[in-house]
Amino acid sequence: MDRELKNFLKELERFGIDNDNGLTDKSKRMRNVTSETGEFLSFMISLTKSKNILEIGTSNGYSTLWMADRIAENEGLVTTLEYSPYKADLAKVNFEKANMTKWINLLVLEAGEYMKTLHPNSFDFIFLDSERKEYVEWWKSLKKILKKNGLIIVDNIISHYPELHDFIDLVTKEKDFVIFQLPIGSGLLLLNKK
Ligand SMILES: C[S@@+](CC[C@H](N)C(=O)[O-])C[C@H]1O[C@@H](n2cnc3c(N)ncnc32)[C@H](O)[C@@H]1O
Repeated sequence: MDRELKNFLKELERFGIDNDNGLTDKSKRMRNVTSETGEFLSFMISLTKSKNILEIGTSNGYSTLWMADRIAENEGLVTTLEYSPYKADLAKVNFEKANMTKWINLLVLEAGEYMKTLHPNSFDFIFLDSERKEYVEWWKSLKKILKKNGLIIVDNIISHYPELHDFIDLVTKEKDFVIFQLPIGSGLLLLNKK
Protein backbone atom coordinates (compact mmCIF):
# COMPACT_ATOMS: atom_id res chain seq x y z
CA MET A 1 0.00 0.00 0.00
CA ASP A 2 1.41 3.40 -0.85
CA ARG A 3 2.13 5.84 1.94
CA GLU A 4 -0.52 8.37 0.87
CA LEU A 5 -3.31 5.79 1.09
CA LYS A 6 -1.96 4.50 4.39
CA ASN A 7 -2.00 8.04 5.82
CA PHE A 8 -5.47 8.69 4.45
CA LEU A 9 -6.79 5.49 6.05
CA LYS A 10 -5.28 6.60 9.37
CA GLU A 11 -7.07 9.95 8.96
CA LEU A 12 -10.38 8.17 8.26
CA GLU A 13 -9.89 5.85 11.21
CA ARG A 14 -9.43 8.86 13.50
CA PHE A 15 -12.43 10.62 11.95
CA GLY A 16 -14.63 7.55 12.48
CA ILE A 17 -13.67 7.20 16.15
CA ASP A 18 -14.07 10.93 16.91
CA ASN A 19 -17.34 11.16 14.97
CA ASP A 20 -18.93 8.11 16.63
CA ASN A 21 -17.84 9.00 20.16
CA GLY A 22 -20.96 9.91 22.10
CA LEU A 23 -23.13 10.14 18.98
CA THR A 24 -26.41 8.33 19.56
CA ASP A 25 -27.95 8.96 16.12
CA LYS A 26 -27.00 5.70 14.39
CA SER A 27 -27.69 7.17 10.96
CA LYS A 28 -24.77 9.60 11.43
CA ARG A 29 -22.31 7.12 12.98
CA MET A 30 -19.62 5.69 10.68
CA ARG A 31 -19.33 2.34 12.52
CA ASN A 32 -16.12 1.51 10.63
CA VAL A 33 -14.34 -1.80 10.92
CA THR A 34 -11.13 -1.84 12.95
CA SER A 35 -7.83 -1.30 11.12
CA GLU A 36 -6.98 -4.93 11.92
CA THR A 37 -10.10 -6.05 10.04
CA GLY A 38 -9.20 -3.72 7.17
CA GLU A 39 -5.74 -5.32 6.97
CA PHE A 40 -7.26 -8.79 7.06
CA LEU A 41 -9.80 -8.05 4.28
CA SER A 42 -7.01 -6.67 2.16
CA PHE A 43 -4.82 -9.71 2.85
CA MET A 44 -7.64 -12.16 2.02
CA ILE A 45 -8.37 -10.45 -1.28
CA SER A 46 -4.73 -10.72 -2.21
CA LEU A 47 -4.54 -14.35 -1.08
CA THR A 48 -7.69 -15.43 -2.94
CA LYS A 49 -6.88 -13.23 -5.97
CA SER A 50 -10.51 -12.12 -5.92
CA LYS A 51 -11.62 -9.80 -8.70
CA ASN A 52 -15.35 -9.33 -8.19
CA ILE A 53 -16.06 -8.05 -4.73
CA LEU A 54 -19.34 -7.04 -3.16
CA GLU A 55 -19.49 -5.01 0.03
CA ILE A 56 -22.81 -4.60 1.80
CA GLY A 57 -22.60 -1.52 4.03
CA THR A 58 -20.25 1.18 2.70
CA SER A 59 -20.69 3.90 5.34
CA ASN A 60 -18.03 6.52 4.45
CA GLY A 61 -15.93 3.97 2.56
CA TYR A 62 -13.24 3.10 5.10
CA SER A 63 -13.41 -0.70 4.63
CA THR A 64 -14.01 -0.23 0.89
CA LEU A 65 -10.68 1.54 0.54
CA TRP A 66 -8.83 -1.24 2.35
CA MET A 67 -10.29 -3.70 -0.17
CA ALA A 68 -9.88 -1.46 -3.21
CA ASP A 69 -6.15 -1.19 -2.58
CA ARG A 70 -5.74 -4.91 -3.32
CA ILE A 71 -8.40 -5.03 -6.00
CA ALA A 72 -6.28 -2.57 -7.96
CA GLU A 73 -3.48 -5.19 -7.90
CA ASN A 74 -5.92 -7.89 -9.07
CA GLU A 75 -7.45 -5.55 -11.69
CA GLY A 76 -10.93 -6.17 -10.34
CA LEU A 77 -13.80 -4.09 -8.98
CA VAL A 78 -15.36 -3.52 -5.58
CA THR A 79 -19.11 -2.95 -5.81
CA THR A 80 -20.26 -1.38 -2.57
CA LEU A 81 -23.87 -0.83 -1.44
CA GLU A 82 -25.12 1.96 0.82
CA TYR A 83 -28.70 3.17 1.23
CA SER A 84 -27.93 6.35 3.17
CA PRO A 85 -27.31 9.26 0.74
CA TYR A 86 -25.56 11.10 3.59
CA LYS A 87 -22.96 8.33 4.01
CA ALA A 88 -22.71 7.60 0.29
CA ASP A 89 -21.80 11.26 -0.31
CA LEU A 90 -19.01 11.03 2.27
CA ALA A 91 -17.78 7.79 0.67
CA LYS A 92 -17.79 9.32 -2.81
CA VAL A 93 -15.59 12.20 -1.65
CA ASN A 94 -13.25 9.76 0.13
CA PHE A 95 -12.90 7.55 -2.96
CA GLU A 96 -12.03 10.62 -5.01
CA LYS A 97 -9.52 11.88 -2.43
CA ALA A 98 -7.86 8.45 -2.36
CA ASN A 99 -7.76 8.38 -6.17
CA MET A 100 -9.52 5.01 -6.13
CA THR A 101 -12.72 5.65 -8.11
CA LYS A 102 -11.51 3.43 -10.94
CA TRP A 103 -11.70 0.35 -8.69
CA ILE A 104 -14.97 1.11 -6.91
CA ASN A 105 -18.59 1.02 -8.03
CA LEU A 106 -20.65 2.78 -5.34
CA LEU A 107 -24.39 2.08 -5.57
CA VAL A 108 -26.82 4.05 -3.43
CA LEU A 109 -29.66 1.60 -2.87
CA GLU A 110 -31.23 -0.95 -0.56
CA ALA A 111 -29.05 -4.05 -0.56
CA GLY A 112 -31.70 -6.76 -0.03
CA GLU A 113 -33.85 -5.83 -3.03
CA TYR A 114 -30.78 -5.22 -5.19
CA MET A 115 -29.25 -8.63 -4.46
CA LYS A 116 -32.45 -10.32 -5.67
CA THR A 117 -31.82 -8.85 -9.13
CA LEU A 118 -28.23 -10.16 -9.43
CA HIS A 119 -27.19 -13.17 -11.52
CA PRO A 120 -26.00 -16.34 -9.81
CA ASN A 121 -22.21 -16.62 -9.32
CA SER A 122 -21.59 -12.89 -9.71
CA PHE A 123 -19.00 -12.43 -6.95
CA ASP A 124 -15.99 -14.26 -5.61
CA PHE A 125 -15.76 -12.29 -2.38
CA ILE A 126 -18.52 -10.67 -0.28
CA PHE A 127 -18.03 -8.52 2.79
CA LEU A 128 -21.18 -8.27 4.87
CA ASP A 129 -21.23 -5.34 7.30
CA SER A 130 -24.76 -3.98 7.42
CA GLU A 131 -27.95 -4.29 9.50
CA ARG A 132 -27.47 -7.66 11.16
CA LYS A 133 -31.19 -8.41 11.56
CA GLU A 134 -31.48 -8.65 7.75
CA TYR A 135 -28.86 -11.35 7.24
CA VAL A 136 -31.15 -14.36 7.68
CA GLU A 137 -33.50 -12.92 5.04
CA TRP A 138 -30.56 -12.13 2.73
CA TRP A 139 -28.94 -15.58 2.97
CA LYS A 140 -30.79 -17.01 -0.04
CA SER A 141 -29.48 -14.21 -2.29
CA LEU A 142 -26.01 -14.23 -0.76
CA LYS A 143 -25.41 -17.91 -1.43
CA LYS A 144 -26.83 -17.59 -4.94
CA ILE A 145 -24.59 -14.68 -6.00
CA LEU A 146 -21.40 -16.16 -4.52
CA LYS A 147 -19.25 -18.21 -6.90
CA LYS A 148 -18.04 -21.72 -6.12
CA ASN A 149 -14.90 -21.48 -3.92
CA GLY A 150 -15.95 -17.92 -3.09
CA LEU A 151 -15.76 -16.35 0.33
CA ILE A 152 -18.20 -14.37 2.47
CA ILE A 153 -16.80 -12.48 5.45
CA VAL A 154 -19.22 -11.23 8.10
CA ASP A 155 -18.19 -8.64 10.70
CA ASN A 156 -19.22 -8.34 14.38
CA ILE A 157 -19.70 -11.98 15.28
CA ILE A 158 -18.06 -11.43 18.68
CA SER A 159 -19.19 -7.86 19.41
CA HIS A 160 -22.83 -8.57 18.40
CA TYR A 161 -23.09 -12.34 18.78
CA PRO A 162 -26.71 -12.36 20.12
CA GLU A 163 -27.89 -10.43 17.04
CA LEU A 164 -26.10 -12.87 14.74
CA HIS A 165 -27.06 -16.03 16.56
CA ASP A 166 -29.90 -17.02 14.17
CA PHE A 167 -27.76 -16.30 11.14
CA ILE A 168 -24.87 -18.41 12.45
CA ASP A 169 -27.35 -21.19 13.24
CA LEU A 170 -28.68 -21.03 9.69
CA VAL A 171 -25.33 -21.05 7.91
CA THR A 172 -23.83 -23.82 10.00
CA LYS A 173 -26.57 -26.12 8.64
CA GLU A 174 -25.35 -25.52 5.07
CA LYS A 175 -23.55 -28.57 3.64
CA ASP A 176 -21.92 -26.59 0.84
CA PHE A 177 -20.05 -24.20 3.12
CA VAL A 178 -16.97 -24.46 5.31
CA ILE A 179 -17.20 -22.05 8.23
CA PHE A 180 -14.57 -20.39 10.42
CA GLN A 181 -14.80 -17.87 13.23
CA LEU A 182 -11.82 -15.61 13.82
CA PRO A 183 -11.09 -13.27 16.75
CA ILE A 184 -10.00 -10.41 14.50
CA GLY A 185 -11.36 -6.91 15.18
CA SER A 186 -15.00 -7.26 16.28
CA GLY A 187 -14.96 -10.97 15.31
CA LEU A 188 -15.20 -12.32 11.78
CA LEU A 189 -17.21 -15.21 10.35
CA LEU A 190 -15.74 -16.73 7.19
CA LEU A 191 -17.99 -18.74 4.90
CA ASN A 192 -16.28 -20.60 2.08
CA LYS A 193 -18.53 -22.08 -0.63
CA LYS A 194 -17.28 -25.55 -1.60
C1 LIG B 1 -21.46 -0.90 9.99
S1 LIG B 1 -21.78 0.29 8.77
C2 LIG B 1 -20.60 -0.11 7.51
C3 LIG B 1 -19.19 0.25 7.87
C4 LIG B 1 -18.20 0.10 6.73
N1 LIG B 1 -18.22 -1.26 6.21
C5 LIG B 1 -16.81 0.43 7.18
O1 LIG B 1 -16.19 -0.38 7.90
O2 LIG B 1 -16.34 1.53 6.87
C6 LIG B 1 -23.26 -0.33 8.04
C7 LIG B 1 -23.76 0.50 6.88
O3 LIG B 1 -24.78 -0.24 6.19
C8 LIG B 1 -25.77 0.65 5.73
N2 LIG B 1 -26.99 -0.16 5.53
C9 LIG B 1 -27.77 -0.73 6.48
N3 LIG B 1 -28.77 -1.43 5.95
C10 LIG B 1 -28.63 -1.32 4.59
C11 LIG B 1 -29.37 -1.83 3.49
N4 LIG B 1 -30.46 -2.59 3.68
N5 LIG B 1 -28.96 -1.51 2.24
C12 LIG B 1 -27.85 -0.73 2.05
N6 LIG B 1 -27.12 -0.22 3.07
C13 LIG B 1 -27.49 -0.51 4.32
C14 LIG B 1 -25.87 1.69 6.84
O4 LIG B 1 -26.42 2.90 6.37
C15 LIG B 1 -24.43 1.81 7.31
O5 LIG B 1 -23.77 2.89 6.68
